Amino acid sequence: MSNIEQTLSIIKPDAVERNLIDEIKKIFTDNKLIVKESKKIHITKDEAAEFYKVHQSKPFYNDLCLYLSSGPIVVMVLEGENAVAANRKLMGATNPKEAEENTIRNLFGLSIDKNSVHGSDSLENAKKEINFFFNN
Ligand code: CMP
Repeated sequence: MSNIEQTLSIIKPDAVERNLIDEIKKIFTDNKLIVKESKKIHITKDEAAEFYKVHQSKPFYNDLCLYLSSGPIVVMVLEGENAVAANRKLMGATNPKEAEENTIRNLFGLSIDKNSVHGSDSLENAKKEINFFFNN
């Protein structure tokens, strides 16, 4: 039985800065994830803090919010079969040093902070995160 889902993907400042937008989008489309929505934006630190609220008790929260607001990002809605898990598999582990070969973070990630992409970790969070950026 098919299970078509939507998930949120963010191309982070380090990857936008290195002109990796098209290359990363191609990885999604080559792997049967459709880019349904896409926009390049530059968010404020307060908006980043709201987006990453689930991490507010973590020691890295402030740096994380500063980083996501440090330059343009691309936010996308990806759609496809089991899109949440499919996107996470394509991204690889959070720390690029631990990411499987040929995953996006293995190919492009620079550090645990500058790890090139974000992806929703559950269907429930995907809905919240999509709504956060595309609530028109
Ligand atoms: P992301 O998937 O965007 O979700 C939260 C981000 O926090 C994560 O990617 C990392 O870039 C960043 N981060 C920084 N330090 C850590 C850490 N120790 N553990 C997990 N995430 C971290």
